Amino acid sequence: MPRCDRTKAWGALKGHFEAHGRDLDLREAFARDAGRWAAFTLEAPEIFADLSKNLVDGATLRFLLDLARECGVEARRDAMFAGEAVNLTEGRAVLHTALRAPRGQGPFSDEVHGVLDAMLAYAERVRADDAITDIVNIGIGGSDLGPQMVVPALDAFCHPGKRLHFVSNVDGHDIAPVLRRLEPKHTLFIVASKTFTTQETMANAGVARDWFLTGGGSDIARHFAATTTNVAAAAAFGIRTTFGFWDWVGGRYSLWSAIGLPIALAIGEANFRDLLAGAHAMDRHFATAPAAKNLPLLLGLLDVWYRNFHGFTSRSVAPYHQGLKRLPAYLQQLEMESNGKRVDVNGELLPFGTSPVVWGEPGTNGQHAYFQMLHQGSDVIPVEFIAVHRPTHPYADLQAKLLANCLAQSQALMLGKTAEVARGEKAPTASATLDRDVLARHRSFPGNRPSTTFVLEALTPRALGALIAMYEHRVFTSGALWDINSFDQWGVELGKALASDLLPRLASGDSAGLDASTAGLLARLRP
Ligand code: F6P
Repeated sequence: MPRCDRTKAWGALKGHFEAHGRDLDLREAFARDAGRWAAFTLEAPEIFADLSKNLVDGATLRFLLDLARECGVEARRDAMFAGEAVNLTEGRAVLHTALRAPRGQGPFSDEVHGVLDAMLAYAERVRADDAITDIVNIGIGGSDLGPQMVVPALDAFCHPGKRLHFVSNVDGHDIAPVLRRLEPKHTLFIVASKTFTTQETMANAGVARDWFLTGGGSDIARHFAATTTNVAAAAAFGIRTTFGFWDWVGGRYSLWSAIGLPIALAIGEANFRDLLAGAHAMDRHFATAPAAKNLPLLLGLLDVWYRNFHGFTSRSVAPYHQGLKRLPAYLQQLEMESNGKRVDVNGELLPFGTSPVVWGEPGTNGQHAYFQMLHQGSDVIPVEFIAVHRPTHPYADLQAKLLANCLAQSQALMLGKTAEVARGEKAPTASATLDRDVLARHRSFPGNRPSTTFVLEALTPRALGALIAMYEHRVFTSGALWDINSFDQWGVELGKALASDLLPRLASGDSAGLDASTAGLLARLRP
């Protein structure tokens, strides 16, 4: 199956981009086509998607769908779902979809549901244990970001008597303030690590165990649990309660596995099963919906269109729900660790860009920080708005203001404001001395800046599951088009190895063989 740039559709897209695509004007496109909104919106499980404010028209979409066909995206997708070793550089299957398949369906169903049942039963026991008031998840990357994002998102569904804490950084400023507020007899630690070798997690787990024992704790079996594929290492650490998973679950795709234990402790069995069901509904959509109505597939195609034809290097995510405050951080790992690659599966250097920089903050906070740049900066940055129709709080007035802001931002990005209109506006008195035309240029907005809006009816476990799975499959799609391995992460290894070399040097001061900069900094940072 060819790489995207070796297809006929790629050439057609290039021609289309030069002829029409580059200059497509959203305002004109809407004026020209009364059916644009209907044509570019779609319903996927739990998510209504408005793609109409993107820089595409019917022809763009047709060429992009040709591209997906020629690159065999659907066949590649089917291979992943079937458990083929699509993670070629590690010789592994990629089966996070099996983690949310109903009992009896999908590969490894007995194993998956065996661990799931055991983990959820354990979660229910802990939830009923009033002595445990605080749960500390110690893990990093994929063993942290999923639960850390989901728990606040589902705050309305969380057990009121359990406080969840997340410690990830090897910086002691992460764990110290958490431990300061806790008591061993009321605390449960979860050591979450796929490999059970990650330096940060092992170091923090050691600190937690020492704190527990010196603080009078004795029953490690009751107060420590592990979630890992390396059950032997967890046992060697002294942990008796362990929930396993498998090498075919990538770290950044693992919140559906035992790594989701903090989520299950927070929201309980029924809600956790709903989270899985929402993700499974999106899996079915991705696996079966026709390409033209397949939301993750369309999003992946758009990513290629923006990155490789328009040359946009970044995408901003703006969730208009405070509970989703960690979604941008979660997506940074999901997208940038997956698709931040510069060689294709055959090791050939790619002549085009891959993962955009993904970043963002919840609205409306982002509006008062960097939205200035989104509206008037020199780069075009597609924005992804996430609106949630029904809140779980009683403040209808706040919700109305929030949604009005969400709508206004995508409207402003698209419509902009001409210098002529700005010129007609009343100028602030302080600027009275400035030439009116100069001031109007400062106050004008170019507009025609693209955005997507997703609407969820409510932020339920089911809807959140579908939303996360949508992003997973979108990353799969762009990765398949680029013909890269979205499931390895060799890029994090070099720094790990160098840190191991530098750690003893910090103590000894030995700078032999180091470059002058690193040697100078080492000398400066010695204890
Ligand atoms: O940062 C690299 C990485 O391997 C991530 O992919 C992973 O999620 C994280 O480290 C944590 O790894 P582990 O779960 O093995 O501790």
